[in-house]
Amino acid sequence: MDFRSLITTTDKLSKTAADALLVVVAGDPKKQVLDAPLKTALLDAIAAGDLTLKPGRTLYLHRPAGIKSARVVFAAAADESAKAFRSAVGAGLGELKPKGVKHVAVIAAGTAEAAHAEALVAAATDATYVYRHTKPSAPTAPALQTVTLLAGKAAGKSVQAGLARGEAIAAGVTLARECANRPGNHCTPSFLAAEAKKLARLPRIKVEVLERKDCDKLGMGSFLAVAQGSDEPPKFIVLRYDGDAKASAPVVLVGKGITFDTGGISIKPAGEMDEMKFDMGGAASVLGSFQALARLQPRLNVVGLIPTCENMPSGRAVKPGDVVTSMSGQTIEVLNTDAEGRLILCDALTYAERFKPSAVVDIATLTGACVIALGHHRTGLFSADDSLAQGLLAAGDAGLDPAWRMPLDDEYEEALKSNFADMGNVGGRAGGAITAAMFLKKFTAKYRWAHLDIAGTAWKSGAAKGSTGRPVPLLTHFLLSQVR
Ligand code: BES
Ligand code: MN
Ligand code: ZN
Repeated sequence: MDFRSLITTTDKLSKTAADALLVVVAGDPKKQVLDAPLKTALLDAIAAGDLTLKPGRTLYLHRPAGIKSARVVFAAAADESAKAFRSAVGAGLGELKPKGVKHVAVIAAGTAEAAHAEALVAAATDATYVYRHTKPSAPTAPALQTVTLLAGKAAGKSVQAGLARGEAIAAGVTLARECANRPGNHCTPSFLAAEAKKLARLPRIKVEVLERKDCDKLGMGSFLAVAQGSDEPPKFIVLRYDGDAKASAPVVLVGKGITFDTGGISIKPAGEMDEMKFDMGGAASVLGSFQALARLQPRLNVVGLIPTCENMPSGRAVKPGDVVTSMSGQTIEVLNTDAEGRLILCDALTYAERFKPSAVVDIATLTGACVIALGHHRTGLFSADDSLAQGLLAAGDAGLDPAWRMPLDDEYEEALKSNFADMGNVGGRAGGAITAAMFLKKFTAKYRWAHLDIAGTAWKSGAAKGSTGRPVPLLTHFLLSQVR
């Protein structure tokens, strides 16, 4: 899809040449910045009761008088925010999708800013994404080819920058969704390694893939304990984006890459177990963020670490009560083999030390408890570093991919005590998302660290089952904010 911005004046809006005009209406309809034909159409429709200005509502008009475009859709927005704009554009495009429209021109009746431009790209990409890889019978992607954002003179440059940022993020989100939606028999650790190698063709990106024997030499006993129950070879993927001088300390992203989580010997119940193919959502978001970096080319160094394997039960699988030695030297009693995410992440967090990072952020579909705590709208954010936490929260707000900070008080650590190792890998049901984060914290003493629990936000269940590509927008905004 092609996104453009067009500087125009109010009096020319009705003369815009496009297959459809999408007019987002926020606030008092009488005060909308529209020329006479569009204003008349809008006010008439409201007066006739054909359009109610409630968020989500739309009205489709065919060949309204005095308007060049054959189709007009009015879409009501809750307010002038980028978030409300994104929802309204989504609703409006939903109206146009079945009509085979190729070129839509969007009017943000208020002032369109960079954030609105970015939101427009997100909404249009989302409205047209179709998963096809293992479903060739899926409906073909909508015809939409070109989206033009009509902006006033004042907004011109920032709107262009917003579109560019939006397109980079959308490419990253799409890559993450495409990887995560693939079933476990397609998206294996080897597949993720191959995807990482594809990214390494892009400017400034390099990749190295460590095999089981390499991880063994490094002492990654915790990661390999999870991997040992599967016939799929584990991979430890190391991505680099070198956008700044060598001496500049990188941000390290660590993504959980469990390509299927059966729970292992502590096996999960059968219901909805298929959704555990999404347990590599953290890894997918790291790949997606690198895709975005390749497009935006910021002056920054970034390292991406992806420990990836399957969590399977077998005659060789790790058992409850087994004690493993992590790369950090700390021993772990594996009380529940289903708490495998932290076992693969802890060795990656230790590996991260060698990069002398400015910050480390891990991203993981880590706990069902986080879904209970926060539901599906906000990602759980854990960090003992206030400035890092604020930076990530702000990035989530800016990318319309919000997070919520959770506590990490020392008292929570007690739940991880073990009689047979330096720690157990589970801390009971109470505060499960927090005790999981406390476990990871024990491996992060050497740098500024934050943890994102995306168990509730990385995918949707039910009729719209599928990956969301989150938190690529949050991560990309955060990385851009780290440019000195
Ligand atoms: N991948 C799951 C977390 C998960 C579960 C995410 C359901 C989304 C929906 C993780 O590996 C896991 O199984 N966690 C356990 C931890 C428990 C054994 C302490 C959980 O949340 O039940
Ligand atoms: Mn698990
Ligand atoms: Zn898992």
